Amino acid sequence: MRRPLIAGNWKMNKTPSEAKGFAQELIKALPVKTDVEILICPPYTALSLVADIVKNTPIKLGAQNMYWEAKGAFTGEISGEFLKDIGCEYVILGHSERRQYFGETDETVNKKLHAALTGNLKPIICIGERLSERETNLTFDVIQKQLQGGFMNVGNIENVVVAYEPVWAIGTGKTATPEQAQEVHKYIRNFIVDKYDKNTADKMRILYGGSVTPENIAVLMKQPDIDGALVGGASLKLDSFLQLTKAGS
Ligand code: 13P
Repeated sequence: MRRPLIAGNWKMNKTPSEAKGFAQELIKALPVKTDVEILICPPYTALSLVADIVKNTPIKLGAQNMYWEAKGAFTGEISGEFLKDIGCEYVILGHSERRQYFGETDETVNKKLHAALTGNLKPIICIGERLSERETNLTFDVIQKQLQGGFMNVGNIENVVVAYEPVWAIGTGKTATPEQAQEVHKYIRNFIVDKYDKNTADKMRILYGGSVTPENIAVLMKQPDIDGALVGGASLKLDSFLQLTKAGS
């Protein structure tokens, strides 16, 4: 019922020409039809080039961030309208690296979520606890707070995707066990049932992110509430990204 989504978050990797080469290789290597939805999120500087390449292919395009205002005197920022115009369908919001290094909060994530939905972009909201929070049994408190803040006054969440990315699992090689991930994914789905309704929750895709590799994706995807993956490192190499898209189906 929920179509799996395999998303590559390239973070600050690949120059525009490297991104172009990768996208060209990817469309050559992919089967015409896939069961999973495949998404790549290059840096802003490569979006336009990659958009031209993936147009009319099964590969979807997303950005890694956006600002909540539509336009104006906000030096260095990019609005949802710009992303949509380039050809983005998705936008990642509130990634833990943005929270950690660029001061994003649940409040700014919420503003961006409203703006993304108004601009007809599909937001991927990232949440997740730090190691110290997990070790002090605060995981569910943190997740609840991030969901409450992020979804504040958001009515229709039909196009929203949530990504559970435990901070301690990102780029560390320490993947959450399928049980650890499933437990949090179930909690997230129950939150959506309580705040919205069961039908909405049943339709919403919840991705796992944090050291996902071709070796561990299958066992993660077997969990009932894991509907795909948001992948950093392993999405940067053609071979491993292709394997991930196959294992996800
Ligand atoms: P890694 O797959 O490199 O751990 O990164 C995960 C991530 O942050 C995806 O958004």
